[in-house]
Amino acid sequence: MNELNDIKIHRGLKEIYLDRTKSSFIDGKNGKLYYRGFNINELANNSTFEEVSYLLIHGKLPNKSQLNEITIWMANNRDIPIEVINLIDSIKHLHPMDVLRTAISTLAAFDDSLDDDSIDSNVKKGLSITTKAPTIVTAHVRLRDGKDPISPEKSLSHASNFLYMLFGVIPDELDAKLIDKDLILHAEHGLNASSFTARVVASTQSDVYSAITAGIACLKGPAHGGAAEGVMKQAQEIGDEKNTTSYVKNLLSSGGRIMGFGHRVYKTADPRALILKIDAKNLSERKGNPKWFGILQSLAVCMEPYEKKGICENVDFWTGAIYNLLDIPDDIFVSIFALARIPGWTAQIAEQFSNNILIRPLLAYVGELDKPYIKIEHRK
Ligand code: CMC
Repeated sequence: MNELNDIKIHRGLKEIYLDRTKSSFIDGKNGKLYYRGFNINELANNSTFEEVSYLLIHGKLPNKSQLNEITIWMANNRDIPIEVINLIDSIKHLHPMDVLRTAISTLAAFDDSLDDDSIDSNVKKGLSITTKAPTIVTAHVRLRDGKDPISPEKSLSHASNFLYMLFGVIPDELDAKLIDKDLILHAEHGLNASSFTARVVASTQSDVYSAITAGIACLKGPAHGGAAEGVMKQAQEIGDEKNTTSYVKNLLSSGGRIMGFGHRVYKTADPRALILKIDAKNLSERKGNPKWFGILQSLAVCMEPYEKKGICENVDFWTGAIYNLLDIPDDIFVSIFALARIPGWTAQIAEQFSNNILIRPLLAYVGELDKPYIKIEHRK
């Protein structure tokens, strides 16, 4: 037992490298993020979610015909089985992340290639889940509102079709472009908790549906993907810019955390937050609704003293305001994060499969040993 006392414990696996990757690189010190070697700023300004999905999954940018092919394939594979729609209807009282997790797990039952574990089949499964996830999320929102789900529209892009299925009208081009950019910015992010979870599942040689279902379960928590919803809840509680200082003081002095601030890897500004801040500002002006941007901006100013401790705005801080200004219901904010992250999970699951090792760390036991077993009638 003595040797257990000398073990160096890495709680939360902080700063531990699990393996090598070519999927993404987070330069947390300098606030930079790369997907497959491409700077996130370049991708956010020039690419589309379909192209980034190809990039993450295949490791290189597509040429014209490859992009055309993946875009058409994605548009043609958005429908979900009626059995899954009925299932969503029967659990529509649940949180959208619970519904998404359950529905994606159920999609496995309708995949004829479930037992094919070739790389091609696994990548195709990940892409198929990517294309169907918005149909699940929007069908749920409409069913719980007593409306019929809207069938996907093949002529629209992935982002545009998502807004179309949510609201039932062809979206404004700028709104759709903004959602497209938001999806790009959430598509991949190193060994975050949900990608780690997906890799752990893949490492047991389980299947893609199981790994992505597990990723969704992990992403749901407020310390990970659930923060954008928390950000808007906080903004609503603050209610007015003049209340921000006292709100922050009270929350932090009682040990609370400001949602949308802090990150395990970035100890400077999250580059995604810098991009989305400008978009949130422009959108609030375009929609003639400066309230939420104003409150969040005042919150950011109040948190400035914490920058030197490495507590800065993260990606979730401005996304909440953007979704809110687009009239997207608060409780699907984290679902949007999930449907954006599926190509990233797919890339990492494929990477894990291609050079697999069972992920199985250790725990240092600190309890007693050889305790006497006392029969039940003699226990106090
Ligand atoms: N508000 C106030 N204090 C904070 C915050 C925050 N949001 N984040 C970290 N801290 C403090 C924390 O109290 C601790 O202080 P001390 O050393 O005095 O005890 C110190 O910073 C380090 O915190 P930690 O929890 O050890 O750091 P971590 O790297 O484990 O935490 C985090 C990362 C994201 C869980 C945390 O920053 C947090 O809870 N943030 C709020 C939730 C949030 O915005 N999550 C979204 C993350 S970005 C999306 C994603 O990639 O998943």
